[in-house]
Amino acid sequence: AGTGKFFVGGNWKCNGTRDSITKLVADLNDAKLETDVDIVVAPPYIYIDQVKQSLTDRIEISAQNSWIGKGGAFTGEISAEQLVDIGCKWVILGHSERRHVIGEDDQFIGKKAAYALSQNLKVIACIGEKLEEREAGKTFDVCFQQMKAFADSISNWMDVVIAYEPVWAIGTGKVATPQQAQEVHLAVRDWLKKNVSAEVASSTRIIYGGSVNGNNCSELAKQEDIDGFLVGGASLKGPEFAIIVNSVT
Ligand code: G3P
Repeated sequence: AGTGKFFVGGNWKCNGTRDSITKLVADLNDAKLETDVDIVVAPPYIYIDQVKQSLTDRIEISAQNSWIGKGGAFTGEISAEQLVDIGCKWVILGHSERRHVIGEDDQFIGKKAAYALSQNLKVIACIGEKLEEREAGKTFDVCFQQMKAFADSISNWMDVVIAYEPVWAIGTGKVATPQQAQEVHLAVRDWLKKNVSAEVASSTRIIYGGSVNGNNCSELAKQEDIDGFLVGGASLKGPEFAIIVNSVT
């Protein structure tokens, strides 16, 4: 870790019930959490209010997605305004599951980011290559192209955290090595320096996601350009999530 305050997000994805979330919130409320870390959890939309009502203010709430513009006749969507209204501070955009399962493209995601920021929702902007892209030596190309779509839409990077999540490491138990992650984080930072500004490059946190758990977090956290984590599966267990939060170096 080297840039800004360490940041750990828990992406609960499409998991949980009222009961399991009551237990998870109780465990998070009981956990001893390092003070020098920004902590965010992203429950499914329908549980956001329950979590907001019961979770310690120490942890901020994120949505897992938001609509591209102002609300209205968009069946099934949730707008950035509504998320702010209900107490969300953050939104995750461009997650690989939305890119590759739902089919959202780079430009669509970039526009969502711009709209969310315009409504004062902070953005966790996700990028990452698929296995075949890594094997074809295209990791940087893919990540830079995804970064460009964000950069084309974003003018103020103060409220943006970048999450590098190699698709082959998500939910697979196959974590990137600290060196593999560091290599991409550094390349993304260099990209920001060349294409946005030196200031944005040195102040924007770049966090890693993909099979992070209580055992592998410390080695990853030691890397110079890994400024935190976006955690999926392991964020569903309060005590393990606390270990990851506390891996701040
Ligand atoms: O957004 C977090 C993520 O995609 C990683 O998921 O389950 O591999 O930690 P997981």
